Amino acid sequence: MSGPSSRRRPGLLYTAPAFGLSLLFLWFWIGRHHEQPVVYPPPRPINNAPEKEMIREDWDFVRDARNFLMTDARCDEAFPELFKEIDRAVEVRKNDHVTLKELDEIVKVKGYMRAMIYDQQLYVLDAAALAINLREQATLHAIHRAIVTSPEPLPNIEFVFMSDDIAAGTPEAKWSYSRQLNETYNWLMPDFGYWSWPEPKIGSYLEVQMKATAMDTKLAWRKKTNKLIWRGASMELLVREQLVNVSRGHEWGDVKIFSWEEEGPKPESKEILTMDEHCAYKYVAHTEGISYSARLQNLQNCNSVIVSHQLKWLQHHHHLMVSSGPDQNFVEVAADFSNLPETMERLLKNDADSERIAGNNVRTFREHYLTPAAETCYWRKLFRGYASVSFEPEFFDAKGKWRGLPMESYVLERKLTWNPH
Ligand SMILES: *[C@@H]1O[C@H](CO)[C@@H](O)[C@H](O)[C@H]1NC(C)=O
Ligand SMILES: *[C@@H]1O[C@H](CO)[C@@H](O)[C@H](O)[C@H]1NC(C)=O
Repeated sequence: MSGPSSRRRPGLLYTAPAFGLSLLFLWFWIGRHHEQPVVYPPPRPINNAPEKEMIREDWDFVRDARNFLMTDARCDEAFPELFKEIDRAVEVRKNDHVTLKELDEIVKVKGYMRAMIYDQQLYVLDAAALAINLREQATLHAIHRAIVTSPEPLPNIEFVFMSDDIAAGTPEAKWSYSRQLNETYNWLMPDFGYWSWPEPKIGSYLEVQMKATAMDTKLAWRKKTNKLIWRGASMELLVREQLVNVSRGHEWGDVKIFSWEEEGPKPESKEILTMDEHCAYKYVAHTEGISYSARLQNLQNCNSVIVSHQLKWLQHHHHLMVSSGPDQNFVEVAADFSNLPETMERLLKNDADSERIAGNNVRTFREHYLTPAAETCYWRKLFRGYASVSFEPEFFDAKGKWRGLPMESYVLERKLTWNPH
């Protein structure tokens, strides 16, 4: 008598290996067709054992990139070249300290914000009637993060920051995102985009870095498009027109002006590129905007060669850009891009050299000096440097009233006064 079980047995003999084989196939298929998400930086090993006295390397990207808790001494070890702009500004005011009266005289133009760090808390003292997008909010959050993660107490300071592209004009001490070489009285602070630049959907800076890393992991250098990419609004800026004109007709050029208005109704258009899509090209062009352009700090996350005209505007990290020698991490052309064609021909002929420059770019910026850890160290160094040449603020005004509104309320209400409700 053949029961159902004896009939199934020979079948099993064949189906089990077949089932195994198809599992194996499925596994390969998933592996090939579904990209694994790329983690940036690679996850830091979690070690629950009590920390031993360790002999540490000065900088370890995987271990340190998101460490907000570095001491001042540790910041110096990890980022020895980062604080040049702060040292410079301190030098300027060494014998001529910042005064309360000086801050009182600063004109409250659009993007102005006055604030105070007092006993490890951030207070907003005054703000202009008009903000510049969400920049002041972003900067307040960044400052706040640097305060609440500080393992050491920070000094009491009062300061004014300006969030407009151009913050100079008058010689009072102001914190700004950028300065020209001759605007020596400005104190450079990290750009608002290191917190987030949500309006053009660039997003938070860590998001830019994670997406750029994902693109670079997918596309090895040799697979990247062997062209110079640039997309941007013209804004009737001469240097942008010069770049477009000089690139026209060259095989290596993929340089186009777009306007948000034209592109608006057809979002499927290929003309607008996301930040990480720039990383698919070996060469990425940089141009300044109204003053500096935050494009640069985003491009510095690509394993690509940045080709920039001579810059007029400095940001807090620009002194780390090297245009020649073994540590070269970008390519500099004339202020009007006139020598771009020869430069591109030379770069294309020396691919290994370009690959080296791109590698230096990533190692210097994405994997070191533009990490969240570096930004936080910079802020705290700025607080300390500024305090060393500045007055100490009063918490109360002459009538005994609080001078400032805690940041925690300000970032919710986005104003200094309101009626209770
Ligand atoms: C700095 O130089 C620029 C252009 O060279 C000029 O327009 C500006 O007025 C100068 N600013 C100061 C403060 O000297
Ligand atoms: C760029 O080219 C256009 C068209 O040929 C021309 O009208 C314009 O003057 C050029 N601009 C510059 C800055 O050379």
